[in-house]
Amino acid sequence: MTDRQDLQKNLAVQGGSPAVTGLEAPSQPKVGVDEFLELADTWGFSAEAQQAIRAAVEGEDIGGGPLLTRYYNPRPSKVTAFEEEAAKFLRTKYALAVHSGTSALETAYIAAGIGPGCEVIVPGYTFFATAAAVVSAKAIPVIAEIDESLTIDPLDVAKKIGPKTKAIVPVHMIGTVCDMDPIMALATEHDLVVIEDTAQACGSEYKGKRCGTFGDLGCFSISSYKYVGAGEAGLVITDDERLYVRAQNHHDTGACWRPDRYAKEREEGELFCGTNYRLSELEGAVNLVQFKKAPARLERMRHVYKTVTGNLRPHKDIVPQQVRDVDGIVGYTMAFFAPDAPHAEVLAEALRAEGVSASVFTSGGARDWHIYRYWEHVLEQKSATAEGCPWTCPYYDKPLPPYADDMCPRTLDLLSRGIVIYLSEWWTEGDCLQVAGAINKVLDAYHDPIEGAAWHEIKPVR
Ligand SMILES: Cc1ncc(COP(=O)(O)O)c(C=O)c1O
Repeated sequence: MTDRQDLQKNLAVQGGSPAVTGLEAPSQPKVGVDEFLELADTWGFSAEAQQAIRAAVEGEDIGGGPLLTRYYNPRPSKVTAFEEEAAKFLRTKYALAVHSGTSALETAYIAAGIGPGCEVIVPGYTFFATAAAVVSAKAIPVIAEIDESLTIDPLDVAKKIGPKTKAIVPVHMIGTVCDMDPIMALATEHDLVVIEDTAQACGSEYKGKRCGTFGDLGCFSISSYKYVGAGEAGLVITDDERLYVRAQNHHDTGACWRPDRYAKEREEGELFCGTNYRLSELEGAVNLVQFKKAPARLERMRHVYKTVTGNLRPHKDIVPQQVRDVDGIVGYTMAFFAPDAPHAEVLAEALRAEGVSASVFTSGGARDWHIYRYWEHVLEQKSATAEGCPWTCPYYDKPLPPYADDMCPRTLDLLSRGIVIYLSEWWTEGDCLQVAGAINKVLDAYHDPIEGAAWHEIKPVR
């Protein structure tokens, strides 16, 4: 026997003794008490409180520490719990967590098959992301007017539907609701996809049904600036299993969501090159709690909204925002329209002097990504590369929409004379009456009251 044969016989794989028989070093958590305390510091807890937390948790046996991603997370996932809580609250079958409202929109568009050659109708008043995500999906946004509801005008949508139209995106702005009946009727008539952008109106309802559940998919931003959310997160919801699976694929192209991650495609359209928009377990944990608090917050906001508007006197030449479902809106804002822009500024200034946080939507002509006229990326068809994709796409049957900064004059007019007032869910009955009293005081000073009518009964004259 050669030396080499002896050596091979001695291998553990051949029945010899293993060389590694038990390492002595205990495993240390990768993520442990220090990271936890860094979070406590984010919350702003005092040094003494952090010391007390350290004393309480330092001795805990947390093994290797938690994985803060849903990537093969061995523990019950906070992201999954967040999705379940959101699905319950939003009354939908599937809720998929992603890391922002913008990624939710892009994911929903791509899941719905929006891409080269398609046009998607969006309102001229929404956060720019609604349109930007259309371009990210390689499609072309078509900008439609809003009406006195401050949401997309179904009459203008009807005018803008053409052979290239694939989808309509109603956006439930500042807590209010779109007129979903005519929008859904148009979608049925023209066989269009509807994707609701509910980023600003989580929990709103139209005729008793949650906004976000009317169309094929609903998108939400669950960020610090929304009443549900504390960092950066988003949600895509749907009742359609195929759309859910496609959304899952786009948000996690590494396919951690699949029952058998590396299996072949189960049905056509399931697998394509997506991205990684997975939500972290930290955000999942925080947003789980945020959704648990949402029902009570929604109730408080609606109560404040109804108490304030229920105590307003309608006035001649003042048009209240046309709320499509007074019982269903979230209610953290209220709005009305003055007859012209200069007078709107006068009223807003007078309201602020009375102690009411009022402002004109387009006050001072400041640039604002919520108003289409500042979306030069779209109006001037900007692209990340010289090829000019998607504006130059050969699949797109030109001409492009007639982009111009004055293409939606009604939207600009309404925003120039619209006054928005932010309400607080924490206001007492007395606070609501004070604010309503201040609004009545200012309107009385400039306009004749309309006797015998309630605030929401006043309609615009077209
Ligand atoms: C109407 C609307 N859509 C989309 C978004 C994008 O959400 P996010 O900021 O979470 O990406 C926002 C955020 O402000 C929004 O208001």
